[in-house]
Parts: sequence; C-alpha cells; structure tokens
Amino acid sequence: MLTGMQTTRWHTYADAAALEQAATAWILEAAQKAIDRSSAFHLVLAGGNTPRRIYQALRTAPADWARWHIWFGDERCLPADHPERNSRMAADAWLDHVAIPATQIHVMPTHFSTIVGAGETARLYENTLRGQGDFDLVLLGLGEDAHTASLFPGHDWGTSAEAPDVLAVFDAPKPPPERVSLSARRLAAAREVVFLVSGEGKRQAVTAWRAGHPIPAAAIAPAGGVDILVDFA
Ligand code: 6PG
Repeated sequence: MLTGMQTTRWHTYADAAALEQAATAWILEAAQKAIDRSSAFHLVLAGGNTPRRIYQALRTAPADWARWHIWFGDERCLPADHPERNSRMAADAWLDHVAIPATQIHVMPTHFSTIVGAGETARLYENTLRGQGDFDLVLLGLGEDAHTASLFPGHDWGTSAEAPDVLAVFDAPKPPPERVSLSARRLAAAREVVFLVSGEGKRQAVTAWRAGHPIPAAAIAPAGGVDILVDFA
C-alpha cells in the first residue's frame, strides 16, 4: 500500500557526464539554500556505483564543509572497511578528502550486524536519527529491478505513517542479503529527493515507473515531489 501519490519531475541528460555535472550542481545549490536557511545542510547519500563520480566531483567543490551533515540511505551488512560498503565508496571518493567533521558523518553501524544482527543495527541508527528533522536533500539510486536504497520488490518498504525510520533487510536479492535501509516514509521526510538513474540497464525500471507500477522507487512520496535525473531518453 503506497501512502501519498508520488509527484515526479523527469530530467533527461545526454549522457552520464552531463547527469553527473547536473547532480553535482544540484547538491551544491541545495547545500547553499539549506545553509542560508538554517546554517546546516543535512544530506542523505545514495549507495551503489552511480554516485561515485558525483562524489569525486564534490571533493574539489568550494563548500562550507563544516556545515554539512552526512547520512546514509542504506548500508550493506559488511565489515567497516569492506570495499563494497556504501560508506567506504563515499569515503574513498569524497568524504576522506574534505573537512566535514567526523561527528557529522553518520555511518550506519552495520559492521555490528554480525554481532547484534541487522535488527539491532537498525535500532542503533534510529537512535542516531532521533530528533533529526526533515533532511534537506536525499539522493537515491534505482536498481534494475526498480529497488531504491535497500527497499526491494516483495519486501516491506515502510510506507505507512507508523513505519519505523530504519528497516533491517534479511534476504535482499542484490548481495549482500543483509542490509539496513531508511524506510520509504523516512526517506520522504525531506525538502528534496533526487534520484540518480544512469545506464540502459535501468530502462525497464524507468518504464515501469512511468507506467505507474507499484515499484519501491515510486513509494518515496515527499510533499514536494521527486526529481529524477536520467541519462537516456
Ligand atoms: C545499494 C544501493 C542501491 C543502489 C542501486 C543502484 O546498496 O546497492 O543503495 O539502492 O543505489 O542498486 O546501484 P548502481 O548505482 O550501482 O546501479
């Protein structure tokens, strides 16, 4: 069951480089607006490979890093320095190279999941999130099966008003099977939500999305709608 209907704004780019350039500018503009408004910028990072070059471009951006706060939309249950972790990708590409205070980079502690399990790890991140209002910008990817974050078809996406902020995922079809994800409800508690969709492999998922199929990406329904950056027509 989807809560509010999702409003979508589609933005088509000629190729991946154009999409990445637009996304980098979008993030920096959102940061400036947030910092002008509230002296802080709360950004949720997307995982996977698509954002990598965007994060690398941010490494040299002229930004007021002391006012940036980084959250993660989802994380794989892997050791802290595992190369397949979303937090590792973001750190290697960007976060290890800029002066965002470490206390403002909120990594999902999924390295504990082998000890306390993904469920308790989700509770830990909920505690970290407690008191945090709407995010300023949420970045999300799109899987070939139309998943987003770690919200997969056939699983609980956490769309209801009572849904927790953070979900444990135990049998994800995209390895690794254990993950932790912000719920659809919490991802939508944001001023802006931008999807980064690059590559022909996502065409079928985009077609399903545009046709109104009840896919995980379509369950993210912030009041302001979502912007979807795509590099194919
Ligand atoms: C993950 C990501 C996932 C990703 C999509 C797209 O942990 O795998 O959070 O939601 O964004 O699968 O991945 P690519 O950008 O690599 O295509």
